[in-house]
Amino acid sequence: MTRFDPTGPLRGRLRPPSDKSISHRAALIAAMGEGETAIKGYLDAADTRSTLAAVEALGARVEGLGVAGLEPTIRVAGVGLSGARGARIDVGNAGTLLRLLPGWLAGQEGGEWTLDGDDSIRRRPVDRIAVPLREMGARLVCREERLPPLQITGAPLQGITYEMPVASAQVKSCLLFAGLLAEGETRVIEGLPSRDHSERMLAAAGAIVRRESDSVVIEPAQRLEPGEIAIPADISSAAFFVVAALLVGGSEVVLEEVGINPTRTGLLAILSRMGAEIEVEPQGERGGEPTGRIRVRHVRPEQLQGVEVEGAEIPLAIDELPLVALVACFADGTTRIRDAAELRRKESDRILTIAAALTAMGGQVDTTEDGMEIHGAGGLRGGAIDSHGDHRIAMLGAVAGLASFQGVEVAGMDAAAVSYPGFEVDLGSLLDGGG
Ligand code: S3P
Repeated sequence: MTRFDPTGPLRGRLRPPSDKSISHRAALIAAMGEGETAIKGYLDAADTRSTLAAVEALGARVEGLGVAGLEPTIRVAGVGLSGARGARIDVGNAGTLLRLLPGWLAGQEGGEWTLDGDDSIRRRPVDRIAVPLREMGARLVCREERLPPLQITGAPLQGITYEMPVASAQVKSCLLFAGLLAEGETRVIEGLPSRDHSERMLAAAGAIVRRESDSVVIEPAQRLEPGEIAIPADISSAAFFVVAALLVGGSEVVLEEVGINPTRTGLLAILSRMGAEIEVEPQGERGGEPTGRIRVRHVRPEQLQGVEVEGAEIPLAIDELPLVALVACFADGTTRIRDAAELRRKESDRILTIAAALTAMGGQVDTTEDGMEIHGAGGLRGGAIDSHGDHRIAMLGAVAGLASFQGVEVAGMDAAAVSYPGFEVDLGSLLDGGG
């Protein structure tokens, strides 16, 4: 159990750790590349270590991974688009690795791979990638037709047009990777836009990839040359301090060099609608991604109102919806989150784990099939919660503790290391007014 007491305020400046989504893509695309790729600011966390171990198992050479908590420059010597050797791959807890990597492997004839991971990974569906990949000609076997372990036997692929049934950047990215080795173009139609990091990075590495209204189209490629990739700070990690500063009296925090790609900034728009005071000052670009300085101040709970969160906003804030629900407990009125059934398929069933955590701390939450209603009461009492091995629920508990009346005990705080091993240290530095 780790205890978080209402000891605020949070003050100071911080560069949150590098972006997890972008780091996964950088390691994979570097491994697909010719020659050596330097990745500046690769996230050093459990999930992204799984991706480095995976590309090493496939034959890529990785050098320069530093001390936990720091973001080193690493060098990856790629194996080329068709050069991955057969392997059994442990993806750990990394859903992004589980869904993206098969796209690259599926078209490499003669190879055989098995992907498996921890207990949480074994509950994460892979039929969402297996169905369209098979349509392209891929040979895949998974447990009960939808779960890992996933076996892949390389086979010739044909480009397809695929309309995704749910907005998923992971499915889109998987199919774009597969399209590199397919015959003819591959078109992915997305009803609602999701994060576009893969498109940006593939284009920078020389792939022909373009957006056409609601689709992304990729042409087959002979080779990729990523050269150098720089990674901005992760808005999904910054989000915990944004919300902590918003809720804890007297706080003011500045977060530096944060990725503010518009496909990731849904939380900032939602919080502003609730009454938060958040300023974003653009800081240029890093690795083809826009970055900015985010300044956030405490506002009194009376200034925060409940809101409706649904439709196109859901994919733009998918990983931050736990924090939206937390802020909703402090706001006036009801917040309704709809169209978010995908939350049930994350590192935990987040509709259940968010509701359980908030209820245990004195919040009033009704769950629905595709979301939840949170009845704001101007604050949270506090209590004891379980992360259920989910990094974002663990960090939510810490933030809730600081903002609560009586503090919060979190069981399973170690899960934070999946995306943010230095979370407690960084939080401590802001509580000391440092940074
Ligand atoms: C991710 C996409 C999102 C997100 C996940 C990371 C990615 O998942 O929830 O944490 O890196 O592509 P979906 O694309 O499945 O919604």
